[in-house]
Amino acid sequence: MTYVAWDESMSVGVPVLDEEHRRLLDLFNGLLESGITPANREELSSLLASLQDYVAVHFAREEAMMERCGYPEMDGHLAAHRYFADEVEKLARDFDGDNPTMLRVDLILLLKDWFVEHIQQTDSLYKPYVGEKV
Ligand SMILES: [Fe+2]
Repeated sequence: MTYVAWDESMSVGVPVLDEEHRRLLDLFNGLLESGITPANREELSSLLASLQDYVAVHFAREEAMMERCGYPEMDGHLAAHRYFADEVEKLARDFDGDNPTMLRVDLILLLKDWFVEHIQQTDSLYKPYVGEKV
């Protein structure tokens, strides 16, 4: 089951960033599909580590792009990225395989309430500044 599929409403107008957003959604979907049980602990830990790594790579690229384009609202955007990266880190740290139900709930909240909303609302604000400069 795909929990969230990328669609055009999530396009930020920068192909490489759209591609990374798709990949992040895939990682979330993969985690949620992987059968969150204590028996799966090792696989889940490695999937969470991949998510963490890819979030870091993606945010760094997006932040560099905003900087290049002279996007004026970077401070708030950077704070939002730090919040999300901290939440994913906390999730990975706290996960000990004993409470897989909570991991699922936290992941769904983070995916739907934060990540998708961030792409559609916060990321879309830099669209007018990107123009030809990417
Ligand atoms: Fe962002």
